Amino acid sequence: MALSIVPGPRDPLAESADALVVVVFAQAFAKHPAVRAADEALGGALLEHAKNAEFEGKPEQTLDVPTLAHLDARRLVLIGAGPEAELTPARLRSVMAQAVRVGSAQNAQRIVLVTPSDDVSLREVGEGAALGAYRFTKYFTGDRKPKKELSKISISLPSSAFDAAAKKSLALGVEVAKAVAIARDAINEPPNVVFPETLAKIARDIAKTHGLKVKVLDKAGILKAGMNLHYAVGQGSSNEPRFIHLTYTPKASGRKKPKSIVFVGKGLTFDSGGLCIKPAPGMGDMKSDMGGAAAVLGLMAAVAALKLPIEVHGIVGAAENMPDGSAYRPADIFTSLEGKTVEIINTDAEGRLVLADALTYAARLKPDLIIDAATLTGAALVALGKSWSAYYTADSGLAKQLAEAAAHAGEGFWQMPLIEELTDQLKSDVADLKHTGDRYGGSITAALFLREFVGKVPWIHCDIAGPVLSERARGVVPKGGTGHAVLTFLRFAESFAG
Ligand code: BES
Ligand code: MN
Ligand code: ZN
Repeated sequence: MALSIVPGPRDPLAESADALVVVVFAQAFAKHPAVRAADEALGGALLEHAKNAEFEGKPEQTLDVPTLAHLDARRLVLIGAGPEAELTPARLRSVMAQAVRVGSAQNAQRIVLVTPSDDVSLREVGEGAALGAYRFTKYFTGDRKPKKELSKISISLPSSAFDAAAKKSLALGVEVAKAVAIARDAINEPPNVVFPETLAKIARDIAKTHGLKVKVLDKAGILKAGMNLHYAVGQGSSNEPRFIHLTYTPKASGRKKPKSIVFVGKGLTFDSGGLCIKPAPGMGDMKSDMGGAAAVLGLMAAVAALKLPIEVHGIVGAAENMPDGSAYRPADIFTSLEGKTVEIINTDAEGRLVLADALTYAARLKPDLIIDAATLTGAALVALGKSWSAYYTADSGLAKQLAEAAAHAGEGFWQMPLIEELTDQLKSDVADLKHTGDRYGGSITAALFLREFVGKVPWIHCDIAGPVLSERARGVVPKGGTGHAVLTFLRFAESFAG
């Protein structure tokens, strides 16, 4: 990424830039030092114009004015952050992203961004600015190839200079956003580029950059390890499956054994449905069926960059679900890594099979907690819409911690119940388990199926089928792959670390 995000000048008006973007609180915007200075330079025309345009600084409100050579910046943009009393970390991150998106329009290369006050958290400012600058344009040629790219964002505080702590937290925020971009890129890349081995390569690259341990099992290794469910899902594709395990170990603190979390991601690089093939409309979206894996890989990069004091494992079950002469079929029975036998009902319910073996592997690491993320069911979208994830856990304390992490991250996560009576649907006449139930409560029965494979380890399951893709850019979220769950999982891991 050729973009640098750095502390800006004490006087934001002094720097020449394509756009000067000032984020302001509602009502109080006329008192913002940069607004006052700019208004003066424009002979009072800025506040006059704001009044005529009914700009008040409400959330997401923007005022975009050409400076007509009165300022060093070509454009001056005011972005509303809403009332100061209502500024949450999530809103701050979101408004910074919006500021960058608006400011970087019109082929801008350099923008200056002024925060609404001196005491905002620079971590969220850095995250938001960098997330808002994310683009995926590599496959455009000719006219649609961006002529100029954003190369510098200077961040200024209204009335003070950056101290060492502020610089550090801004830089950390940018690191976190880079980790989210790993997830976004992996989702946005087409399935002829991102196949299971590509996910392994991304994992190896992260391991190399951050000094993590990485283990990859190929098709034969998966079979040898006894992950027959994972193997079955991958057996119909010429892009062979991979099982990926990244380990982050904190520097020894001298104290007792660090706490540990294992994150597990569904990594279906393409889900055609297999022999139970999906209808053509929308099938292309199934390139995002590795969104859980993308989140886990992005998270591992973030955890390592932030040097968290806990042990974190990132596990990805990667496969491509395709119809073929060697594809698995409805009625097949396989023995899972855990030992239970599973009767295949519908080859399009492949994610829970790959996850089942990965969860057993995770449980055998004896962590304090397992969290999985999977684009598991269309039923989760029916229940909560396209921008919220469903999550399941039997532990109310963990449920609360996840809800708090999601709120801080600004991502939608809603707890759903593990309804015991639905387990009846998973009884098979010929094996220990059927792997699907009926249409109703489909996200719940999928969660109940997974529960069979985690043993006694505390566990949170996240069905992220909707939010991995977004139909439009809004706040920190771009159109396309979102990187959903990285920020929530990171915040969760940070607070779990204590
Ligand atoms: N990857 C899909 C779930 C999905 C659907 C994700 C739509 C994002 C958008 C999953 O593998 C799947 O096909 N699930 C089936 C399960 C069914 C066959 C029991 C579903 O939800 O229809
Ligand atoms: Mn499927
Ligand atoms: Zn799937």
